[in-house]
Amino acid sequence: MSDFAQYADWFYLVGSVLFILTLRGLSGPKTAIMGNRYGMIGMTLAILTTFFVAPNPVLGMIIAAMVAGAVVGLARARTVPMTQMPETVAMMHSLVGLSAVCIAIAAVLHEGVHHDALHRFELFVGCFIGAITFTASVFAYGKLAAKKWAKSVSGVWVKPLQAILFLGMIGFGIVYFRTEDLNAFYAMTALALAFGFIWIAPIGGGDMPVVVSLLNSFSGWAAAGIGFTLNNPMLIIAGSLVGSSGAILSYVMCNAMNRSLLNVLFGGFGTATAAAGGGDGAEKTHKAGSAEDASFMMANADSVVIVPGYGLAQARAQNAVKELATVLKEQGVKVRYAIHPVAGRMPGHMNVLLAEADVPYEDVCEMEEINSDFASTDVVLVIGANDVVNPAAKDDPASPIYGMPILEASRARTVMVIKRSMATGYAGLDNDLFYLDKTMMVFGDAKKVLEDMVKGVTGGGH
Ligand code: TAP
Repeated sequence: MSDFAQYADWFYLVGSVLFILTLRGLSGPKTAIMGNRYGMIGMTLAILTTFFVAPNPVLGMIIAAMVAGAVVGLARARTVPMTQMPETVAMMHSLVGLSAVCIAIAAVLHEGVHHDALHRFELFVGCFIGAITFTASVFAYGKLAAKKWAKSVSGVWVKPLQAILFLGMIGFGIVYFRTEDLNAFYAMTALALAFGFIWIAPIGGGDMPVVVSLLNSFSGWAAAGIGFTLNNPMLIIAGSLVGSSGAILSYVMCNAMNRSLLNVLFGGFGTATAAAGGGDGAEKTHKAGSAEDASFMMANADSVVIVPGYGLAQARAQNAVKELATVLKEQGVKVRYAIHPVAGRMPGHMNVLLAEADVPYEDVCEMEEINSDFASTDVVLVIGANDVVNPAAKDDPASPIYGMPILEASRARTVMVIKRSMATGYAGLDNDLFYLDKTMMVFGDAKKVLEDMVKGVTGGGH
């Protein structure tokens, strides 16, 4: 063992502290960049230390794999648009799952090694969690990227099949645990791979962000399991941090939608509500206006609250909205942004977009902070948001989203909504906010409409 290796645990400890500081930093927009830096330093330290402690590392293979990974990762990071982040994250989780499976198989194949009971338990749990994470994440990627092969499945046969695969997987795992029979290990892995697919397939599109966060948590636990197999404390700690933070995030998202995790995973909500999205049949009318009408009203208001949603991300209109806020402020209007915790398609989606456009943090308000201010707000401008401002969540006990906390935009004096049509949002539900007397729809792509609004404000106003 080299001198350096004797100190490996100390380096791992420093790396672990850096990872904890990373998570702490990432919890707020002002500290996020520093958090990222801690993560990069921690990861570099962890990788370098591992090089020195690994017995007989095959340097050529390891470096080749790292270079290939870095090239693909860098290329993807540079080109991925914000709207494709959720599926990219899902794809990355699948790789963590796959590597857990590969390491577990390599460990069981390790010639001449007898695995004691504890070791076999770690291998069995690490491998099946990894296998489920792998196929479930691939399917989640397919769904989020709207791939043809990732079609939802439904039917009475789905749940019994899930149960059979799950019980079979556990059964073979127990056989391996008791007998060290390799065939049982492979059978368990194959059933876990199949279970991952059939588990995700019935879950509705709107619930996928929760699933991705849960898979993030799984990938962490799989890494921790493999950390035990490899006797690597850094991997155990980093895996546990990912596992627990992913679990907390899933819980927070479920709370924001007023749903339980079990309901998300086994309730088929997204598919059921999509079917319920046809409305109640009654003819409802809405008012539509132009961007110029809207900008005239906003320029003459005292206060405007902007509610961004998924459509803002889709239209890449973050800079245009910042521009509108700037020109309105120049006219003496108080402008703030109201962010719903599940607006968009991933946690913090809207915060990231607005930060990208350099919107001042003090203008961005969380739901709890701003809900009581809507009643005294002159104009609410809803941009590509739908479910997160749907009053049915408060008023209609029959609605599938009843009980979900919403931004109470309907309480403002005037409501303006930018979207392309009267189409439903992700939950597939009609929205009564759009039919209120005080609501004006401004149809069009969010970016184009916002640019027209900027022109309208700079051409008129107070
Ligand atoms: P949605 O309810 O999905 O509504 C987005 C609206 O944007 C659509 O109605 C669409 O209408 C409009 N739109 C799309 N592209 C546009 C464009 N280029 N220009 C203008 N408008 C455009 O979004 P939301 O209010 O942000 O709600 C988020 C949904 O995702 C909720 O159901 C939430 O539960 C679910 N969800 C989110 C998360 C996280 S973590 N964010 C997690 C789980 C579930 P048109 O087609 O008519 O334009």
